[in-house]
Amino acid sequence: MTDSGPPVVAPGAPGARAAAASPAGAAAAAPSRRITAVTSGKGGVGKTFVSTNLAAALARAGRRVLVLDADLGLANLDVVLNLWPKITLHEVFTGKAALADAILPAPGGFSVLLAGSGMVEYSRMTPEVRLQLQRVIDEVAPRYDHVLLDTGAGISDLVLYTVSLAAHVLVTATPEPTSLTDAYATIKVLAATQGRRHIHLVVNQVRRPGEGRSVRAQLQQVVDRYVSPTLEAPVRIELLGEVPTDPAVREAVLRRQLLLETLPGTAASLAVVAMAARWPQ
Ligand SMILES: Nc1ncnc2c1ncn2[C@@H]1O[C@H](COP(=O)(O)OP(=O)(O)OP(=O)(O)O)[C@@H](O)[C@H]1O
Ligand SMILES: [Mg+2]
Repeated sequence: MTDSGPPVVAPGAPGARAAAASPAGAAAAAPSRRITAVTSGKGGVGKTFVSTNLAAALARAGRRVLVLDADLGLANLDVVLNLWPKITLHEVFTGKAALADAILPAPGGFSVLLAGSGMVEYSRMTPEVRLQLQRVIDEVAPRYDHVLLDTGAGISDLVLYTVSLAAHVLVTATPEPTSLTDAYATIKVLAATQGRRHIHLVVNQVRRPGEGRSVRAQLQQVVDRYVSPTLEAPVRIELLGEVPTDPAVREAVLRRQLLLETLPGTAASLAVVAMAARWPQ
């Protein structure tokens, strides 16, 4: 990804990050094109798995990558990566530590900003959380080729605000009907409130090759029918990739290691590497 090209979220578009959130109330700039929000409608569908392993695959390809645990209330990136941070976003948000000291190297060759369990009080959207998140993201973005925001699930104010700070959205869904319904709701809200017209999709836990394509087609069909006609331009869903259901994913989580590091030749691992190769530069 580069900084050139038109912004995905037009500054001032409804739902684009609010001018009030920027210092001195100045009009907020468009999010850096380096920033991607990894989000989902339903919880537990694989956002953290995708964020961390995609980050490792991109890092392996020579990119500078940072993953930020934006699931502030239910942060668990530290658990998945087996890191025991002394300094987290909590210390940064409260002015107890400098941002640079909270950025840690992760096992996959990328950097992380962890939230840790001290962030429960930040799980609600407040003006302070807005300002702090925006400040942190603005400050780190220029130093990386890719910043991945591992958000919480759903369409809460905090999730939507976090997504509004990103130029790209990667929706993670599984083929389960409940996940599809929630992915549709997420895409609809992002299109209506943030002017999103291009959504990347990862279909996780597919049972057969090609299921990701049919899930994308199903979602695109309902979006074409019910969402795009209400907007001035259609919403396009682009499949970044599909990842099979693979017991190795759970095994890696139990070992508290990255799949790409601990079980690299497995089907899910290869699928993530293929996705990274397709990732827009
Ligand atoms: N491709 C897969 N194959 C098998 N199991 C998987 C796969 N992807 C995810 N899982 C299982 O689902 C669990 C949840 O994944 P993950 O924590 O990445 O979801 P999440 O969307 O980040 O959840 P949350 O909404 O709580 O943040 C994993 O710990 C793993 O056990
Ligand atoms: Mg998660």
